[in-house]
Amino acid sequence: MTADAGALKGWAAKVLAEGGVADARREAVLLLAHAARGSRAASSSAWAWSAGARDPVSPAVARRYRRLVALRAAGRPFAQVVGEREFFGLRLRVTRAVLAPRPETELLVEEALAYLRSGGPLGRRPSALSRPGPERLLVADLGTGSGALALAIASAEPGVQVFACDASQGALSVARANARRLGLARRVAFRLGDWWRAFAPEGGPGPRFACAVCNPPYLCEAEWQAAPPEVRAEPRSALVAGPTGLEAFWAVAREAPAYLEPGGLLAFEVGFGQAETVGAILRAHGFEDVSVRRDLAGIPRVVSGRLRPERAGGDRGGASRGAA
Ligand SMILES: C[S@@+](CC[C@H](N)C(=O)[O-])C[C@H]1O[C@@H](n2cnc3c(N)ncnc32)[C@H](O)[C@@H]1O
Repeated sequence: MTADAGALKGWAAKVLAEGGVADARREAVLLLAHAARGSRAASSSAWAWSAGARDPVSPAVARRYRRLVALRAAGRPFAQVVGEREFFGLRLRVTRAVLAPRPETELLVEEALAYLRSGGPLGRRPSALSRPGPERLLVADLGTGSGALALAIASAEPGVQVFACDASQGALSVARANARRLGLARRVAFRLGDWWRAFAPEGGPGPRFACAVCNPPYLCEAEWQAAPPEVRAEPRSALVAGPTGLEAFWAVAREAPAYLEPGGLLAFEVGFGQAETVGAILRAHGFEDVSVRRDLAGIPRVVSGRLRPERAGGDRGGASRGAA
């Protein structure tokens, strides 16, 4: 038996609103488009927007739709329900093992690309991106999650080689699958471990990076406790840094001089109200030219600095302090 699209959408909007979804009517339409994906004549969001009482929906699509609506109304994030999120023009798979990449995180990609295209470490000319083979610029993505930052930078800039790490095996599986689906598996090397040490687990030489991006966990415990169910449905280890929310910034900045080229860029995404402190953390660890970028809401969102050449080098730690 077929159902009609208008009635289904009305039902879904009501259920979603009762479940606390802010933009229930819009999500009712988007979920219908997703449920209908691949079915004849009903696969586009234009169809889902305009479909009304006279538009039949097959039993299989209606069943899928009801399941998606129930999950969303129960507090699962939209990206988890549909299993994907678009980031910097790439369609990424998203599961419960990863944070769904946020639009404001695209600023970190822009920051890295602007730096690389301007010549990279020490402003080398001609464009450092034309360095051949093993001389190619290396980029690190620390805490890669779905692979969003690593894959966006690799796809936008064919001249660089990207290394990405995460402490979560589940996240790395998602990131590797995304790399394969996007044809970028050869351009991004994924490593399991604790921040930089994932790239030199024995404390050995390992790669030295021109540029590193990091969107670390930056909530404190109290913020996590107060977070809405939708946020708490994402991995705690992707969101919570520790008692202050700043612990990951300290950990990454402290070891950065041992892994970055002289003049190399370290760019962090930061949480609300953290920009000034994170700038100070960077300066305290040998960074200069510290700058802040604001997101579309005007919130300071990306803080970056360049490693002073005389601070590059130093101890990489060893296996005894090794990977998580
Ligand atoms: C806020 S999420 C960012 C995910 C992705 N980069 C993005 O921007 O959408 C933080 C990520 O850092 C990872 N992470 C947390 N602690 C880590 C550590 N000590 N070493 C490496 N990765 C870590 C988490 O597993 C999570 O995937």
